Amino acid sequence: MININNNEISFEDYISPLSQRWEKFWPLKDRELIHHANDYGYFKLNAKCNWKFAIENYCESYHLPWVHPGLNSYSKLEDHYHIQGLPNRFAGQGTIVYNPRFDGNEKFPCFPNWPKDKENIAEYVALFPNVMLGIHKDHYYAYWLEPINHEFTLEHMEIYYVGDEAATSTKYKTLRQKNHKQWENIQKEDVDIIQSMQIGRNSPAYNGGNFSPKMDNPTHHFHKWVAGNLI
Ligand SMILES: [Fe+2]
Repeated sequence: MININNNEISFEDYISPLSQRWEKFWPLKDRELIHHANDYGYFKLNAKCNWKFAIENYCESYHLPWVHPGLNSYSKLEDHYHIQGLPNRFAGQGTIVYNPRFDGNEKFPCFPNWPKDKENIAEYVALFPNVMLGIHKDHYYAYWLEPINHEFTLEHMEIYYVGDEAATSTKYKTLRQKNHKQWENIQKEDVDIIQSMQIGRNSPAYNGGNFSPKMDNPTHHFHKWVAGNLI
């Protein structure tokens, strides 16, 4: 996270509200267990659109049934809840995940203090401006955006596991490969729609946009951040 204006608070202060939110999943000492996968730990996607559409898309869940029918079968739209950080630095969705990845005999190690009553909870939060985070009981990712110009963005996915063995050993290699493939497929589905959003915003029929008071609250949160910090 870089601030080229040199007028921002420290990163530790900036991320503190989100860090406190996730303390219940990850007490600080458990975060030392986070290891980057040494294979199947990265992919990059090209998106012919403005970087902000990726964040908008990440903040809402109502695209799931038709954009991600596979994902929506184990992480259903109706199981999602809104996340809107205060002060306004992050927003996104939490959800119940019934992931088939967890049904096999082989399972990744989990964060040791992840609450038992939240085993199937995952949270997907955009940390403004350009980083999308995902936390699960057995893995974590940081999906960050590199804007190349106003209509082209590189998306970088970095995947992490709980402990060195889960992240690097041959024992978990097949699972890492499977998880990598799953996320790459899901994020490719999103690239298709955010590229369409770029085309739609350029249409003379576009009226400036309407927010759903029920579904767009986290997206509106991001718009407020943009209005307050970039414009
Ligand atoms: Fe999506």
